[in-house]
Amino acid sequence: MRVTIYAAVAENGVIGREGGLPWRLSSDMKRFKATTMGNPIVMGRKTWESFPRKPLPGRLNIVISRDPAYRAEGAEVVTSLKDALTLATAKGRCMAGAEEICIIGGGEIYRQAIGMADTLKLTHVLAAIDGDTLFPVIDPDVWGVVSAEDVPAGEKDSHATRYTVYERRGGDVRRA
Ligand SMILES: NC(=O)c1ccc[n+]([C@@H]2O[C@H](COP(=O)([O-])OP(=O)(O)OC[C@H]3O[C@@H](n4cnc5c(N)ncnc54)[C@H](OP(=O)(O)O)[C@@H]3O)[C@@H](O)[C@H]2O)c1
Repeated sequence: MRVTIYAAVAENGVIGREGGLPWRLSSDMKRFKATTMGNPIVMGRKTWESFPRKPLPGRLNIVISRDPAYRAEGAEVVTSLKDALTLATAKGRCMAGAEEICIIGGGEIYRQAIGMADTLKLTHVLAAIDGDTLFPVIDPDVWGVVSAEDVPAGEKDSHATRYTVYERRGGDVRRA
């Protein structure tokens, strides 16, 4: 299965602050829900704990923690990114309509996963924002833009955004 990274990223690379999101982007959350629905989603333990401690519905939730005793109700827990991808591939093949493995954060997981991803689906937040967690640098020699859509701020959005899809240049990455 293809591996896609989903993230919302400010102009200065910020993706998070104090364990949460430093913006309110209702339109983007709706798109995120629709595009990830039915797929396995992979996240770090801190991102899982930033949710109200329940799985995102309609998706296989996989949480990565180094603690083998960690439990996340309603989610699968694994102890490495490699195990997360193996589990997502095995279970995803049996999930009707599953198209891709969605890596949904946070910073620590993005840094490790970007070298294994085929696609980036990024919501560029059109502002520089204070925060403590960053997205890795997007190398233009590695990632080419295949589509971009400007989205004005709606009533329930704190910022305008640009939804941009990047594909790895030169085809799919080989994963061990
Ligand atoms: N803007 C966005 O799109 C977006 C998306 C998601 C999250 N966020 C934000 O990002 C922030 C969280 O990101 P973060 O970087 O602090 O944490 P994170 O990546 O969500 O989770 C880090 C945790 O994942 C586990 N982990 C990481 N690498 C591992 C590995 N190789 N093997 C086993 N376990 C591993 C560890 O859990 P243990 O400590 O349990 O071992 C580690 O503490 C929050 O502010 C959140 O709101 C933003």
